[in-house]
Amino acid sequence: MAETLHSDQHPPGIEAGERTERLWARSMTAAMVVLLGVIVFSSAHWGLHPPSRVETIDSTSLHEGGEFSEANLGTSIAADGSAVVRVVAQQYAFVPNCLLVPAGVPVTMRLASADVVHGFLIQGTNINAMVLPGYVTTVRTTFADSGERLMPCHEFCGVGHQAMWAHVRVVEAGQFPSDEAKAKVVSCAR
Ligand code: CUA
Repeated sequence: MAETLHSDQHPPGIEAGERTERLWARSMTAAMVVLLGVIVFSSAHWGLHPPSRVETIDSTSLHEGGEFSEANLGTSIAADGSAVVRVVAQQYAFVPNCLLVPAGVPVTMRLASADVVHGFLIQGTNINAMVLPGYVTTVRTTFADSGERLMPCHEFCGVGHQAMWAHVRVVEAGQFPSDEAKAKVVSCAR
């Protein structure tokens, strides 16, 4: 029926329909341009990287020395009095498996994976991050209260995933072996 009409013989209603179509086409084009702009801006501005300070590491040689060598894993006290906890996540354990930290002191946690993607969260806190091979995951926090908390791996990492968890033991600053932690590292690993 429409084919039999000339363009100047539109029945009433067709022109209004075309106007609406054009309006929709324009607004959808504008929406796509805005969304594309957001994608370009956010990937250029933040970079498509893991969501922490981007710091890379060779995950295949952690045990050969450097920051994440075995002797460095655990809690040390920095010159400014804050605590630094270094942990390796690997199939299927955190090393050390019990972290000893003082309450009321700024704590920087640094984690590296020796193999695949692991998850790291500390129950009762808002700490929740991924540990990706090739990157160092850094989390800063201060534990207000002493007590024992669970730290399970929450990212499926293989057949032993459900058995992969550690403890975080927060002790009052006076009970924390600060002198020992200034000289080397401490933990409550068993
Ligand atoms: Cu490590 Cu799941």
